[in-house]
Amino acid sequence: PLVTTGELVTRAAARHSAVAAFNIITLEHVEAVVAGAESADAPVVLQVSENAVRFRHGRLLPLARAAAAAAERAAVPVALHLDHVQSDDLLRQAPGAGFSSVMYDASRLPYAENLAATRAAADWAHSRSLWIEAELGRVGGKDGQAPLDAHAPGARTDPDEARAFVTASGVDALAVAIGSSHAMTTRTATLDHALLTRLSGALDVPLVLHGSSGVPDGELAAAAAGGIAKVNVGTALNIAMTGAIREFLAAHPEAVDSRQYLDVGREAMARTVAGVLRVLEASRPS
Ligand code: G3H
Ligand code: ZN
Repeated sequence: PLVTTGELVTRAAARHSAVAAFNIITLEHVEAVVAGAESADAPVVLQVSENAVRFRHGRLLPLARAAAAAAERAAVPVALHLDHVQSDDLLRQAPGAGFSSVMYDASRLPYAENLAATRAAADWAHSRSLWIEAELGRVGGKDGQAPLDAHAPGARTDPDEARAFVTASGVDALAVAIGSSHAMTTRTATLDHALLTRLSGALDVPLVLHGSSGVPDGELAAAAAGGIAKVNVGTALNIAMTGAIREFLAAHPEAVDSRQYLDVGREAMARTVAGVLRVLEASRPS
């Protein structure tokens, strides 16, 4: 069934665990995430980034409608989230397209401007009963930019600043920069667990980890146990899909039916989804 992101994140936080949110780009991604969640018997978030909307020729509704239809029929709870929104126009489409939550991303701006833009977005979101996540600090590697040095001073989220930001903006959750980076194709990120402990002590909202594709299983489990309540995974699905299709086409140079390779791509993504969900489930303190 279709549920809200707020309830999934709240429930995960109460269990000292994390809900996984997967970025969807095609119908195959939608079906794979739902199938993987069903096989792991875990709730999941389907998220559409502003980037993905751009790829879909600027149109949100076709993918959103497909995601909502898949969520409604799913055997596990599924929520819809709009990810990395920078455009106010896209933000305003969220409720009508079936999303219960948004991540408003003004993290590229200096602190005061990030706060002002995020506070306005949060006021609007709450007036429409949307749950809203924002980002402070900089999780690098967005929009095909060279990955930021995640260890550079200034890139990490400062706990005192984060506390002031959350209080003043009124957001429901905060994406924090603790060493992960977007679009990593190797799982080699090292997280700053001491900083995570300080952040979760300083803040009373759930914390979100972006760029989770580059985070090894053990690090991901430790983050979930240490205060991260939502983990965002995108690139790992594309690695799985593209790798499986590449292998299939190399082995079947005569193939022409797109359903054959889309099938193997979808199955590979579903296995990746189930794998992440099992790691998070296993990380729960008993
Ligand atoms: O918001 C989306 C995520 O942060 C995905 O990052 O593609 O590196 O897994 P990733
Ligand atoms: Zn992200």
